[in-house]
Amino acid sequence: MKTLIKNGIILTTENEFKSDVLIIDEKIAAIGENLPADGVDRVIDAEGKYVMPGGIDQHVHYSFVYKGSRVRGFETTNAAAVGGTTTVIEFVNQEKDRGLIESIEDYKEKDVDGIAMVDYAFHIVMTDPRPEVIKEIPKLAEAGYPTLKLFLAYKGQFFHADDEAVINALTAGKEAGITIMVHAENADMVDYLTKKLIAEGKTGTYYHAVSRPPIVEAEATRRVIYLAEMVNAPIYIVHVTCKEALEEIKAAYQKGQSVYGETCAHYLLFDESVLDLPNFEGAKYVCSPALRTKDHQEPLWEAINKGWLNAVSSDHCGFDFEYQKHLGFGEGKSFADVPNGAPSVQNRLNALWTYGVCTGKLSKQRFVDVMSTSPAKVNGLTEKGHIAVGYDADIVVFDPDYRGVMGVESCLEGVDYSIYEGMEQKGRPETVLLRGQVIVENGQYVGKQGQGKLIKGKPFGSAYDKFKG
Ligand code: URP
Ligand code: ZN
Ligand code: ZN
Repeated sequence: MKTLIKNGIILTTENEFKSDVLIIDEKIAAIGENLPADGVDRVIDAEGKYVMPGGIDQHVHYSFVYKGSRVRGFETTNAAAVGGTTTVIEFVNQEKDRGLIESIEDYKEKDVDGIAMVDYAFHIVMTDPRPEVIKEIPKLAEAGYPTLKLFLAYKGQFFHADDEAVINALTAGKEAGITIMVHAENADMVDYLTKKLIAEGKTGTYYHAVSRPPIVEAEATRRVIYLAEMVNAPIYIVHVTCKEALEEIKAAYQKGQSVYGETCAHYLLFDESVLDLPNFEGAKYVCSPALRTKDHQEPLWEAINKGWLNAVSSDHCGFDFEYQKHLGFGEGKSFADVPNGAPSVQNRLNALWTYGVCTGKLSKQRFVDVMSTSPAKVNGLTEKGHIAVGYDADIVVFDPDYRGVMGVESCLEGVDYSIYEGMEQKGRPETVLLRGQVIVENGQYVGKQGQGKLIKGKPFGSAYDKFKG
């Protein structure tokens, strides 16, 4: 099967240029001007459009359970596709009394195979750091799962991890090139503040932010940076939200330590005032770390522009409003009962293009880098994230002239609300190809369930660059 994308403007992390792209089967076979259409099965006219690598969302939750409530699963990954994301990387919890690799493979078989509509990879979340499990960490490299996450937050939940688990993961992982990722919030500080606020009758959703202020994130960020320094291993901090944590990362990075991180689109675009919306609507924005005051946003934009943070993810969590977020509503309930996380995979590219590229906060080149190229490198997805010969033909033909409004009506996320409801949208993924096959046409999903496949990652992702000599 041959497909030719004609006359588009190719966007890479370095430049942009008018060119055609020839795809043969699943791969990009040629890039050049006026490529001949002889023998081609399909021609896509991209005149006036941008041609960029499919988005890679390295932080999604299709299996997260919060106090018994579970998010929507991979049957809703067509939302990623229409949003221009062709690969998602899911956090899979290690199951009780099970190994790391078998937990991933069980989940894949039960809930992902034959269902996924975009390609996928996995991060394992270590929930049970017994010695046999620590010994298994290096084996993740060969199995194709080269990233491991620890939740320092969420005291009392089975997936909460302590410092010893972080040290053991860092030391066991580093020879094999496993990248250790951390949700950095001090769980005891959050627990103390939560109990205090509830005892004072401060139970509304706004107090979610008060219960986990920036200092909680900064402390845990500083602490894991020190832990990583002690054992001379790289570390990756997920969903960085505030100036204080950024200062820690920047200082370590400038000292030459291998400290990297990402932020998420909602921390760039929303502030904590939405947690105070009436009619319990603030619950829609309960996620952890919490949304911050506006003054944290410019430093985050600066960090993604300067490379202190190298990815913008969604932290997608498909909890709905009526039946799940409302678990925190009513007599005896509080913000602490609201499932943490928000649906956001579909509009990650649209939101960052509209409010980042179109406002001049982000160049198109940085957009491509933080949305696709850099997450591919962090996670060892060596055939994804570039418009270049030999790479997977995961391609977004992006129409910059489209105008619309984001909201639940056009969302395929399978839940009853969107955090982007009513916000203006400039531009959209018009056509999306997944390994050479068109899965979105004219902005509509036209692919098939099960078309997405597992992409195994290589160890020694970009967090190890400084160790490569
Ligand atoms: O609130 C959030 N972010 N929920 C998802 C789990 C996590 O902490 O990443
Ligand atoms: Zn987290
Ligand atoms: Zn998350």
